[in-house]
This record gives sequence, structure tokens and C-alpha cells, in this order.
Amino acid sequence: MVGVVGLQVLDFISHSVAQTRRLGTRLGQLLRPGDVILLAGEFGAGKTCLTQGIAQGLGITRRVTSPSFTLVNEYPGGRLPLYHIDLYRVTGVQEVLDLGLDEYFYGAGVSVVEWPGQALAALPPEHLLIELSVIGKTKRELHITAVGSRYDDLVDRLLAQASGSESLPPGELPREVFRCSQI
Ligand SMILES: Nc1ncnc2c1ncn2[C@@H]1O[C@H](COP(=O)(O)OP(=O)(O)O)[C@@H](O)[C@H]1O
Ligand SMILES: [Mg+2]
Repeated sequence: MVGVVGLQVLDFISHSVAQTRRLGTRLGQLLRPGDVILLAGEFGAGKTCLTQGIAQGLGITRRVTSPSFTLVNEYPGGRLPLYHIDLYRVTGVQEVLDLGLDEYFYGAGVSVVEWPGQALAALPPEHLLIELSVIGKTKRELHITAVGSRYDDLVDRLLAQASGSESLPPGELPREVFRCSQI
């Protein structure tokens, strides 16, 4: 993995659907063409919820739903196109290679991949990995790892933005109630 200089990590606890979405929105605002985000975690961990936030941050107005049955959902119309990929039903590296996803990964948009675990070797070696875990009814842990210098930079910008004036004061209620549904 030439060029991988660091594994910057960031841990985030989300106490609500709105918070998970808001993190996604912040991330979506920072993404650049060709960025690849891998979302790992069990069912209900919040992968699709986070993706809905990312879409919002990219300025996509269409509702993002789970692509489990379609494999890839494309969302044009925002600042950058979003490719939402779900590998739950795909087993093994070769099967993923056969899908020919490189046009997405190395294209003009942003790729968000749910269930990357089985096929890491077929996915871009540099990526932002977000591992989500359920730690309570409405509490989720998001462990973010930057794999590659490009993503170190993304995490730096995410941190800078979160500590800047755009962050909400503690306890401020979200202006909008978000719902994240399974499908
Ligand atoms: N803090 C939270 N962040 C994200 N989702 C949450 C949170 N608390 C509860 N939930 C619920 O967990 C579920 C997450 O679903 P979804 O995003 O589809 O998960 P996944 O794509 O990982 O299977 C939703 O039903 C959502 O309402
Ligand atoms: Mg999902």
C-alpha cells in the first residue's frame, strides 16, 4: 500500500439518529471527487442513516434508501454524484471484482460502501473506514480510520470543522427530526 502514511483515527459517540445524520452531513460537505467511504457494522448500526446525512451534505435532495436489493444506487444532482453500494449479498473478492465497480470508485463522484468486510481486497486500498457499533437503544459508536494520506487530510478537515463555528452548542435540539429507516 504505497502512499499510505498514516492511520488517523477518530471516535465519535452518537446519541441520536439526528446526530449520526449530522456527522454524515458534515462529512458530505467535505468530500471530493473519487473519495471512498467504507461503512462496516451490523444491521441497524446506522450505515444507511449516515449515508443519508452524507447525501444531504452533498446537496442531494432525493431520499436515500438501502440499496440491498439493487447493489448500487446512483444519486446525481448534488455538488458531486453519490454512488451508494451495498455488498451484503456479495460473497468474496472475485465476485466484487467481477462487478466492475472501479468506474464508481475512480469516477467523478463519491462512493459509499456498506458491508465492505468480505471484499476489502477488491476495494480501493485508500479509503475512509467508518465502523459503527450499537452501544444502546439510540447510542452508536463510530470509529473512523483514515487509510491513506488523502483521508488523513479529510479527518483533519472534519475535526477542524467540528471544532469551528459551525458546530452546534451542546444540548441544542436539532431543527429537524430525521428518521432513518431500514429500507
Ligand atoms: N444514534 C443513532 N444513529 C443511527 N441510527 C440510530 C441511532 N439510534 C437509533 N437508530 C436506529 O437504528 C436504525 C439504523 O438503521 P440503518 O441506518 O438502516 O442501519 P444499517 O444501514 O447499518 O443497517 C434505524 O432504525 C434508526 O432509527
Ligand atoms: Mg443499510
